Order: sequence, then structure tokens, then C-alpha cells
Amino acid sequence: MRGLEIHSSPDKKKYVIGGAIAFVILVIAAPFLSSTYSYLKIATSSIDESICPVYDFKRPASFLIDNSTAVEIINDEKFRLKSVQKVSGAVRIDTTVFDNQPDVDDDPKLWANFAKFHKYLELTFPTVYALLEVNYVNTYGIVFHWKGSDKHLKPLMLAAHQDVVPVQKDTLDAWTYPPFEGHYDGEYLYGRGSSDCKNVLIAILESFELLISKGYEPKRSIVAAFGFDEEASGIVGAQNIAKYLEKTFGKESMYAIIDEGQGLTTDANTNQVIAIPGTGEKGYVDILVELTTPGGHSSVPPDHTSIGIVSELAYLIEKDPYNSILTEKNPYLNYLQCGAVHQGKKGGLSSFMKKAILRAGFDKYANSKVLELLRANLLTKYLVTTSQAIDIVKGGEKVNALPEYTKMVVNHRVAIETTLDEVRSNFIERAKILANKYGLDLEGFGEAIIDNKSSKGKFVISNFSSPLKSAPVTPVDDKVWEYLAGTTRHVFEDLVFTKGNKLDYPIVTAPSIMTGNTDTRYYWNLTKNIFRYSPMYLDDFVKGTNIHSVDEKLKFDNHLQLLTFFYEFIQNVDTAEANNK
Ligand SMILES: *[C@@H]1O[C@H](CO)[C@@H](O)[C@H](O)[C@H]1NC(C)=O
Ligand SMILES: *[C@@H]1O[C@H](CO)[C@@H](O)[C@H](O)[C@H]1NC(C)=O
Ligand SMILES: *[C@@H]1O[C@H](CO)[C@@H](O)[C@H](O)[C@H]1NC(C)=O
Ligand SMILES: *[C@@H]1O[C@H](CO)[C@@H](O)[C@H](O)[C@H]1NC(C)=O
Ligand SMILES: [Zn+2]
Repeated sequence: MRGLEIHSSPDKKKYVIGGAIAFVILVIAAPFLSSTYSYLKIATSSIDESICPVYDFKRPASFLIDNSTAVEIINDEKFRLKSVQKVSGAVRIDTTVFDNQPDVDDDPKLWANFAKFHKYLELTFPTVYALLEVNYVNTYGIVFHWKGSDKHLKPLMLAAHQDVVPVQKDTLDAWTYPPFEGHYDGEYLYGRGSSDCKNVLIAILESFELLISKGYEPKRSIVAAFGFDEEASGIVGAQNIAKYLEKTFGKESMYAIIDEGQGLTTDANTNQVIAIPGTGEKGYVDILVELTTPGGHSSVPPDHTSIGIVSELAYLIEKDPYNSILTEKNPYLNYLQCGAVHQGKKGGLSSFMKKAILRAGFDKYANSKVLELLRANLLTKYLVTTSQAIDIVKGGEKVNALPEYTKMVVNHRVAIETTLDEVRSNFIERAKILANKYGLDLEGFGEAIIDNKSSKGKFVISNFSSPLKSAPVTPVDDKVWEYLAGTTRHVFEDLVFTKGNKLDYPIVTAPSIMTGNTDTRYYWNLTKNIFRYSPMYLDDFVKGTNIHSVDEKLKFDNHLQLLTFFYEFIQNVDTAEANNK
């Protein structure tokens, strides 16, 4: 009967089958339809330029009256050679620091070269030392204070470090000129510290010297702070300088801080000159895991030794990398957006990708497309991803004895959106899997997590070094940013890119994040307006400077650009109009 019933209504049957087929097609096609819809939403959207404004030129009044000083810095050969002498002399004094050096008072001899360096600065910049207040922090930290006449204006702080990284002995022969000779070949000045960053330190003092020679009297105070162990994490230098500054001036006391960092370059996506102050830094945490297990003879081993279990942990870690994440918290998104908005004729971003970048902050599909692009290149992938690198493994002593102790250290550079606690608990979770599997105890960052007094062994997870959370992100929608961007345009468009290299577009200043850290890690309490920024134009920052490697060098044009920037920026912000509201 049933069969009959069906046969009796063939139309209905067709209808049911047709409906079912349509439903199946819909289910299969839904993702495509929805992604087509998402795609169209992106492709038909318009470009909102307000997401990355171009700011007007900021030119100091003195420049408008008489531009000869700025023009002289950039173009005058005599000025240039005098400046070469100053940087070269600084490079000639070897101020190398090594990791974990004892504090100054615990081993004064180790630091003695810094006294020579101080003497050199005093001899080279007599007017600066005569006019400014100079304070020494922990013997070799230097803090200059040029007091302004208006106490209501927060001081501008400029920073650099006096120390340099070591020259590896077996690379000495590879240097074109000896690393502490400060040789100038007419274009480049060579030597350790020439680009990282005695150039910045000397440029700051030269800008003071020039301003003093013009009879300049600031309304806004200026502070210059020079640490002396930035290359060894700033523990002895900047850490103490920060305490001194906070005590002397207070929290949130500075107008802005400009420390060493990136400058201007040609952006790979847009093929245009762009300025990229570092406005954020990734976090940092090294995690140490130690596993102790009972010893014994290798002839009767357990199925898994401590080395085997730690290896399994390493396997679990690498099998489970962090996902990429890009939100508006990450300055890099705004950087990409600046490129998308201002890309010129020669840019390489497709129209679709430009629009996807602009929607990536709120449109999930667009976000996934941008992440796909960024993941394709290791350098951009790790601006949006927490990295995990297994860097140290040690275990075992003897071939016929079971390893009683195995350790492993994993380095993480933590994405802006991820907390150090998330990284720690993620690490613990993976160790827990193995602790349960093998009946081991587990302690994580001082806390007992599995505590059965197991006879089989115990994991202990702890810090390997001082962790650092990602830096607070510097705002880019305020007056300080506007003055930074406007001064950059002035220096580079009025004075640097002028003749055959004249640009036919405005220079955009875009925020960016640094994967390394600077002394600013200690200065977070002093202001939220922190910039890791050394405005010099370089095609390729790494190859153009060789920092930390053989033949470290400074293109001298770059040094003069930096000096001009400080000279003009100090004057530009010397007014209440430059204040944030
Ligand atoms: C400097 O001033 C002179 C005289 O006013 C002017 O001709 C020149 O173009 C100016 N140079 C720059 C770089 O502004
Ligand atoms: C060890 O302790 C955990 C709780 O911390 C418990 O779940 C587990 O069963 C214990 N294992 C053994 C072998 O006692
Ligand atoms: C180690 O990590 C803990 C988190 O458990 C953190 O609170 C602490 O500051 C770190 N200790 C050191 C010495 O850096
Ligand atoms: C910043 O201020 C906090 C709160 O007063 C303090 O605990 C911390 O040590 C300060 N940071 C630095 C780097 O001085
Ligand atoms: Zn440096």
C-alpha cells in the first residue's frame, strides 16, 4: 500500500526528490556562495582614506625666516666633515658590553672605557656640557636636562645608548676597516656602533650644540638619556635611568620619547617611500622545562627515558604552532592600511587585496585573506604570530647510564594580542598531557599542578630569563604623531628628496612593530608616546647598516638627515599647540 501510495502521487514524489537534490546542492554550495558573497562585499567596498591621513608639513619658524642652517647640515661639505670627526671619535672608543656583566660597582675595571667615552663627549661638546644640567646614573648612565622656560610643557625626551655589541674575534679579518678605527671613505663611516647607535647619540648632541650656537632658548624642556648596556638588556643602565627619571619628573611626565629604531624606507607593497616609527614591540618569554627521572643502568631501561619524554614534548610543541592573528591592536594592520590607501602607480597590491586590508579589522573573510598573504613570508608571518623556537636541549651524561635530568628551553616572541599567561598556560597544558601519560608530577611557574609524589619523575616549568610583555602601543591619532609625521615630511620632502630624486607623492608616516626590544622597555611609565625612530632613508635597513655584524657602517647622508630631524623637531614641538589635548 505504501508503494502504491507513492506511485499514486508521482508529482509529489518528483517534488520531494527535486527538493532534496536542491537542498544537497545548497549544502555543498553554501560555503562557496557565502565566500562569493564575502568576496563581493570586499570587491565592491570603497576605500576610506581617513584610516591613514597624510599630515601637513611642519616647518619651524626659524626655517621659514632663514633656512640656511638646515640646508647647511644636509649639503655643506665642511659641516659634513666636522660631523664625521665627531662620530668617528665616538666609534674609536670601544664601549663593548657582554651579556650578564656584573654591575659597575662590582667590577669597575670592566666598565672603565665608559669613563673615556664620557671624557670624549665633554671635550667634543663643551657648550652642551656648559649650558645643560648633566646627571650621572649608576656612574655611566648620562641624563642631560635642558631646562625650558615654560614648566607647563612636558619635556621631550631623546634616547640612545653608549654601548656596542662585541666584535667576534674570528671575524676581525673580514672587516674592510678595523672596527674601532671609525674610518670614513667619503660616503660611509665604518665601525662597531657607527649605526647602532653612536650615530643617534652624537646626532642628539650635535643638534643641541647647533641650537645653542644660534642662541636658542627652549620653552619646552629637553631630556637626553643615554644608557650603557642596551645590548645586554639595559639592566644596569636604562633600568636605573628609568627609576631616576620617574623619581625626578614623575609618571606620564614626558611629552614623547624618541629612541633608536627604524626610519624611512621604500615599502615593498606600494613601492613608495614611507616613514615607519616603531610604535609597538612584541612580547618575549623564554620557558625552561626540566624533567628529572630515576637513574639506572641502560641495560634495563624504562620504555621512555627523560630524553625521550622531553623529545615528545618538543614534538607536541612543534606540531601545534600558534595561529596567526591580526586585529586593530596590532600597529602592523594600520601600517598595511597606510600602504593600501596611499599606494601609487607602481605598487604591487591588487585592488582586491587593498580593499581586503582596509576591511581586515572587522571583516572575518577579509582578515583571513590578509593573513594568508602575510603567512606566505616568514618576516611578515611573525609580525602577526607568536613564535616558538626550541633553542636548547640538554640531557644525559654517559652512554651506559639512564639520563636523570633533561632540560629544554623554548623561546617565544609573543603577538600583541596574546598575553604571556596564555603562552605559559598553553605550555603547561602540553606538558600535562605527557605527565598524565607517563605518571609524572608537574610544577608550573612555582605552582604544583600534579603532585602525587610520583616515583616516576617530575616536570618543572619555569622562566629561563626575564619575560617581557608586549609594549603598550603608541597612539597615532594625536598631536604628537601629527608633529612627528609633519616634521618628517618637512625634512625629507623639503631637504632630502629634492633634485633628481624628488617624489611625486607625500611621505606617509605609518606605525609599525619591532620584533626586537630597545631601552624603551624601561620607559613605559614616562609617556605613552614612545617612538623607536631614527629618521634616515635606507632602502634596506639590515644591508644598509650591517648592524651587529662585520663592516657595520653608517651612510653619512643618513646621519645628517637624522641630525636635521632632531634640530627641526625640537623646535617644532616647542609650543603648547603641539600638546595632546
Ligand atoms: C631656502 O630659502 C631660499 C631663499 O628664500 C629659497 O630660495 C630656497 O628655495 C629655500 N630652500 C629650501 C630647501 O627651502
Ligand atoms: C595524580 O593526581 C591527579 C590529580 O592531580 C589524579 O587525577 C591522578 O589520578 C593521580 N595519579 C596517580 C597515579 O595517582
Ligand atoms: C617568571 O614568571 C612569572 C610568571 O609565573 C612572573 O610573574 C615572574 O615575574 C617571572 N620571574 C622573573 C624573575 O622574571
Ligand atoms: C612602572 O610603574 C609601576 C607601578 O608604579 C611599577 O611597579 C613599575 O616598576 C614601573 N616600571 C618601571 C620600568 O619602572
Ligand atoms: Zn641599539
